[in-house]
Amino acid sequence: MSEQISGGGDWCWWKHGVLYQIYPRSFADSNSDGVGDIPGLINRLDYLEELGVSGIWLSPVFPSPMKDFGYDISDYRNIDKVFGGLDDLQKLVEEAHQRGIRIILDMVFNHSSDQHPWFLEARSSRDNPKRDWYIWHPGISGPKGKGRRPKPPNNWRAAFGGKAWKWDEATGEYYLHLFLESQPDFNWRNPELRGALFDVLRHWMNLGVDGFRFDVINFIVKDACFRSNPYRLHWALPRRYEQQHHAFDRTQPESHEFLKDLRKVLDEYPETTSVGEVFPDEGIIDHAAVASYLGGGSDELHMAFDFSLNYVKFRAADFAAALKGQYEAVPEKGWPVHVLSNHDQSRAMTRLAGGNTAKMKLLLTLLLTQRGTPFLYYGDEIGMPDGRIPRSRLQDPVGVRYWPFHPGRDPARTPMQWSDGTGAGFTDGEAWLPIPKDIAETNVKSQRGVSGSLLEHTRKLIRLRRNHRALSHGFWNLLESPRDVLAYRRYDEAAGETIVVALNFSKRACHWIPDFHFAKAMVLSDSAFPSVKEVPSTGSQNKNHPGIELSPLQALVFKV
Ligand code: GLC
Repeated sequence: MSEQISGGGDWCWWKHGVLYQIYPRSFADSNSDGVGDIPGLINRLDYLEELGVSGIWLSPVFPSPMKDFGYDISDYRNIDKVFGGLDDLQKLVEEAHQRGIRIILDMVFNHSSDQHPWFLEARSSRDNPKRDWYIWHPGISGPKGKGRRPKPPNNWRAAFGGKAWKWDEATGEYYLHLFLESQPDFNWRNPELRGALFDVLRHWMNLGVDGFRFDVINFIVKDACFRSNPYRLHWALPRRYEQQHHAFDRTQPESHEFLKDLRKVLDEYPETTSVGEVFPDEGIIDHAAVASYLGGGSDELHMAFDFSLNYVKFRAADFAAALKGQYEAVPEKGWPVHVLSNHDQSRAMTRLAGGNTAKMKLLLTLLLTQRGTPFLYYGDEIGMPDGRIPRSRLQDPVGVRYWPFHPGRDPARTPMQWSDGTGAGFTDGEAWLPIPKDIAETNVKSQRGVSGSLLEHTRKLIRLRRNHRALSHGFWNLLESPRDVLAYRRYDEAAGETIVVALNFSKRACHWIPDFHFAKAMVLSDSAFPSVKEVPSTGSQNKNHPGIELSPLQALVFKV
């Protein structure tokens, strides 16, 4: 085992390394069915080792009817045939560990598939012992009474459209589904259900799995009295979901009690980690709400995704505010986590960089030089943009339902571009989602070993992070800088090391007067040392102090 995985010194794989998210349908297909699988991923582990990542978060690979592409699980203890078998997963764990790479599985514990045996039992009769593992309600009977179906208990809506309550004809009650109607919500208030879910975690930890990403962790507990959500003014055609404050269908205080129990289960297996998805109200950034899932910092989840970087514009001030907000909210014993793209959002290359490679380089520099764990989404390291999906090829239920108002999530899920050959080196068959035509520049083969490419830039930054404690362990603070420049210092007292990062978000050159002696500074990123110039004063910056000129979109990492 490499030094990293055995945890040499105070290196902790999930804190100090870089984690990499894989959407397994789209990473590598070994059997030409057009869908990625675990054996395909095993064949690509050398690539990930070379990239330098310390762990992989694998989106769900469990048996599933795939109504929501694996986020609807029908068996929590096995692997879906489309991805391989349990033995493939075990082999993945072994082979990854040999390369110093850990494996994080995606646990969808807010709901199961309606095909899960637990739900089949639960819906078989009102007095089935598993009935209470899900959320049922008789509804509200109107004055006309008899013969009429009661109304749903409240105004809750499903995130993917329509009402959140589905009438079950056979047993004459509604069940709750905050996503698709084929994704019934669990009742976390039932202790047996919690016990069964915790045993699922033990099952995977016994097989050597190193951690879990918990899907929509802020949804697991709902208001005990089923109160209706208050109305919210929001221009959200055609999705009425955003026209509610989700005050009662999620984010209930009991979640924290349950997560404390869950943490105790994880702590039975040393070095295991967890990261929660805290699904925000559209456009509302609440750093404190996200950080609350860390509890006191060591008694709930190890990490929680703060999606504020998904709502910013490509502006230095926006990033500064989002980062500062997050750092201030995370409890002292907690640990931040940063993410630019994932399988639910438009990719950073499209959303933030507008297809501009220099902007993407800057964003990768920003992501990989933060305090806290960076999660890199597969393909971001080569600058993959969102794919264009014709209506006839749409797969995501959100895209299918809301076309043409909402593109759905397929654009961010297209196959990994390994080469510009047929099937992008991803498959010999027909890929499940279309591969863009012009990928001559945007593929692993054409960027590998090419200095200045996004791929080599990413590798270099991951290496820097591993070799400099200031980056992996150090503190973070903002530096004074002109409007278009985001500058911050990372420093580690134990190593006596300081690193400064300066990012010019503007397409114009920018003068910056740093507060350190840059004459002695060393540039670590693959960028030329900027020219040193006498510049006139700007704001509170010193008059006629020599400054440096950052070229347009320049991203610099200095050791000072
Ligand atoms: C999370 C997942 C998303 C899924 C949803 C329902 O938001 O990231 O992909 O569709 O939960 O499970």
